Amino acid sequence: SRKQGSNHDHRFNVVMIGDSEVGKSNILSHLTKNEFRHDTKSTVGIVFGTHNMKMDNKKIVKAQIWSSAGKEKAPFYKKAAGVIIVYDITRRDSYENVKRWLTEVKKYASTNVVIILVGNKADLHDLRAVTTEEADAFAKKENIFFMETSALKSTNVCDSFNELLKQIY
Ligand code: GTP
Repeated sequence: SRKQGSNHDHRFNVVMIGDSEVGKSNILSHLTKNEFRHDTKSTVGIVFGTHNMKMDNKKIVKAQIWSSAGKEKAPFYKKAAGVIIVYDITRRDSYENVKRWLTEVKKYASTNVVIILVGNKADLHDLRAVTTEEADAFAKKENIFFMETSALKSTNVCDSFNELLKQIY
């Protein structure tokens, strides 16, 4: 049942995290297209956008995506139904740090939060430092969804996000 004047039936908060330079801003701007904005007034470096998705039953799910660079992350995690952890397939360190990001999520987020792991920059084949198989095995062990994306070539960006929303919904 959609509220009058509202363009959506359900709303979720999603937090996108990962090391610096892995491509979070580009993924976000790709997902949110012209709705994208940088909130420069914020003191904690929050970037957010929204993404609408029509579910099978025609209901519209609106996701508010937050990407926080600041220290005060707890309130964002607490409100999140989903978390996207991004690493760069060409940077081994960004993949190794996924474990730390996961620990942080488990510390602050609700226990039923849906987490997906995204290996970005999949277009840079020659520079690959993390195999698909390795990340896939890790994700399976942690019981989280995994997908490789390219924000540059727009590969799998929407798919990965829609998968997250489906799991939340
Ligand atoms: P922080 O704001 O420091 O946290 O970085 P970020 O994670 O938001 O990364 P950002 O989106 O700014 O991208 C970092 C760099 O990687 C930029 O130079 C992008 O152009 C580049 N980049 C992002 N996504 C891709 C991709 O899929 N493929 C390639 N080849 N480059 C990408």
